[in-house]
Amino acid sequence: MKTLHLYVALVAVLFAAYGCTTDQLRNPLDQKLETALKGLSPTGDLDYYTMPETYDLASIPQDPNNPLLKVKVELGKMLFFEPGIGLDAVHPDGMQTYSCASCHLPECGFTPGRIQGIADGGLYYGEQGEGRIKNPHYAEEELDAQGLRPLSVLNVAYVTNSTWNGRFGAGGVNVGTEYAWTGQTEVNFLGFSGLESQNIEGLILHRMVINKDVTDSLGYTDLFDAAFPEFPPEERYTLQTGSFAISAYLRTLLTNQAPFQRWLKGDLDAMSDQEKRGALVFFGKGLCYRCHKGPALNAMEFYALGVKDLYEQEGAYFTGPDDPRNLGRGSFTGKAEDMYKFKVPQLYNLAHYTHFFHGSSVDNLHDLVEYFDKGVPENPNVPEEQIALQLHPLYLSDQEKADLEVFLKTGLYDPTVVERYKPDAVMSGMCFPDNDPVSRIQLGCDE
Ligand code: HEC
Ligand code: HEC
Repeated sequence: MKTLHLYVALVAVLFAAYGCTTDQLRNPLDQKLETALKGLSPTGDLDYYTMPETYDLASIPQDPNNPLLKVKVELGKMLFFEPGIGLDAVHPDGMQTYSCASCHLPECGFTPGRIQGIADGGLYYGEQGEGRIKNPHYAEEELDAQGLRPLSVLNVAYVTNSTWNGRFGAGGVNVGTEYAWTGQTEVNFLGFSGLESQNIEGLILHRMVINKDVTDSLGYTDLFDAAFPEFPPEERYTLQTGSFAISAYLRTLLTNQAPFQRWLKGDLDAMSDQEKRGALVFFGKGLCYRCHKGPALNAMEFYALGVKDLYEQEGAYFTGPDDPRNLGRGSFTGKAEDMYKFKVPQLYNLAHYTHFFHGSSVDNLHDLVEYFDKGVPENPNVPEEQIALQLHPLYLSDQEKADLEVFLKTGLYDPTVVERYKPDAVMSGMCFPDNDPVSRIQLGCDE
């Protein structure tokens, strides 16, 4: 009896060892997904969807005017969170209390954790951005609060034209729009990519100041010297170099440890069967792939999904039915065919978003999947002829919808984002992302 058991065990071990090397025992879901993805990839290869490692700076898409360097990334990592540069506040009690990260919290997938971001003129942090309120000393028009939900800055290395209407960046989809480069977008004439252009204007818009006095007083001068030796001293401590450092940092914010990314690189156990089934819906019957493409599952393409605008959400400041930002791409190009169309955003770390779409009209992924499945626009202001033809009923089963939701929530979730991309401290030593007295307590900076 004993020998028989041993024999059976031996055969089983041999079979398992051999079987693993054959395709027969492979999970059929892996094969299906691989076939689907290769079929959709313009190169026929899974590489089309993969992101480089964060330390592999040479492989990250970049602006040739702003080559990625470790020293630059490290500088940008602090500037993005630095309340010390918030020196152009409207009122004295707003000075040095806000940062870029006030509206782009790493804990919330680099979105604000509420319907709208508020920087200057905002108070409090709460547990994770949800507690932010308007400073009663500020008039509504004095707030730094935009009429759109802040986009995530994750995976923006794959964004050539930034913001919801893609107005920044000299190349990409903005070739031929030179006639519209006025005011804020005049910066495009410098010839930089979206991020490098936008963040020059962004520093001004968000009431931040960078010059030699500021870098001296906060302790950044040596870091600028190390990052930008090729700039003559009189051009080294400026909004442009500040933008270059921040843009370099933003380009490294890759969600390359998400299960889907690990699966693409060959770790077939990185995703559960349900996540794999959800991916098959995304890249199959759900037709999400028609607009969400490449490593970030985004696109420099603009569509009207007919979702509601931010002014329709209770508690949204400083926006309204006549806000030109409701017109999406059309507000930039002025072209009738671009009206109400918004850029296709990236889809990683959605699990940490509190709101979805440009107007924060949906607050959970279940409802978001329902919106796409029903395919019925909810915003009566958007004329029917503008609505994307791809928005139509999908007739997904309950199981397919549940699988898709899980793929979005956990398959595309990189759990290492906060630990990898949030600095331990900024040079000024100030509390970040928010530095008003109550936020300081809520963030654990003061007792
Ligand atoms: C008051 C809130 C707020 C602050 C502060 C803020 N942002 Fe944003 N951010 C937004 C909003 C809103 C958008 C979308 C704007 C639009 O579409 O017009 C955005 C979009 C972006 C984008 C575009 C991403 C993409 O995919 O196109 C980048 C990059 C960005 N912000 C970087 C920054 C940087 C760098 C700073 C600091 C200099 C900053 N933000 C400060 C609210 C904010
Ligand atoms: C017609 C092109 C198109 C198709 C098809 C499409 N999307 Fe999108 N998606 C967009 C655009 C454009 C937006 C931004 C719309 C807005 O906010 O006005 C968006 C937004 C989203 C968002 C919100 C992201 C954020 O930052 O708020 C998620 C999540 C999403 N899509 C998932 C999906 C899924 C899942 C599918 C398939 C069921 C899908 N999309 C199909 C174009 C598309």
